[in-house]
Amino acid sequence: MFTAGIITASDKCYAGKRDDLSGKVIKDLLREAGYRIERYAVLPDDVKLLKQEMIYMSDSLELNLIVTTGGTGFAPRDLTPEATKEVIERETPGISEAMRYMSLSVTPKAMLSRGISGIRGKSLIINLPGSPKAVRETLNYIIEPLEHGLNILLKKETECAR
Ligand code: MTE
Repeated sequence: MFTAGIITASDKCYAGKRDDLSGKVIKDLLREAGYRIERYAVLPDDVKLLKQEMIYMSDSLELNLIVTTGGTGFAPRDLTPEATKEVIERETPGISEAMRYMSLSVTPKAMLSRGISGIRGKSLIINLPGSPKAVRETLNYIIEPLEHGLNILLKKETECAR
């Protein structure tokens, strides 16, 4: 079983003006896939706070998977990828490319998500877009291969099974 943390980046959710439906979708999908959710944080779109939380989840809690939702678009305060870029040590572009590639068959607006993903220590950090619909579509698509990647990252498997 893998451990996971969820970060919702949203000024509106943080201020209590909107329910965090996307965070709930992530929780449900990860639990269904066998992950244990150890921390869930709703934060404003603030690079410093987002970075702090990602570092805490990775360095102190040593969570295997950290999934963010929101703040990947073009609004001036959409800053989740910038925060993520500052904390990851190795980028994992294939995951974000795969999500955008799949999502383009759903909506051309998928090209507007600037989400990135990468590894910090023993944690994999992935930015998902903000809407519950987009979260469901993207997470469902990547969830199966993630398990293999995490097994290799955590040295539970030494190489790709062919
Ligand atoms: N990806 C999927 N799979 N489904 C969607 O509906 N919406 C897009 C995109 N990615 C979408 C998607 C839209 S409309 C935007 S603006 C961007 O994600 C950025 O979303 P965010 O700013 O909420 O993170």
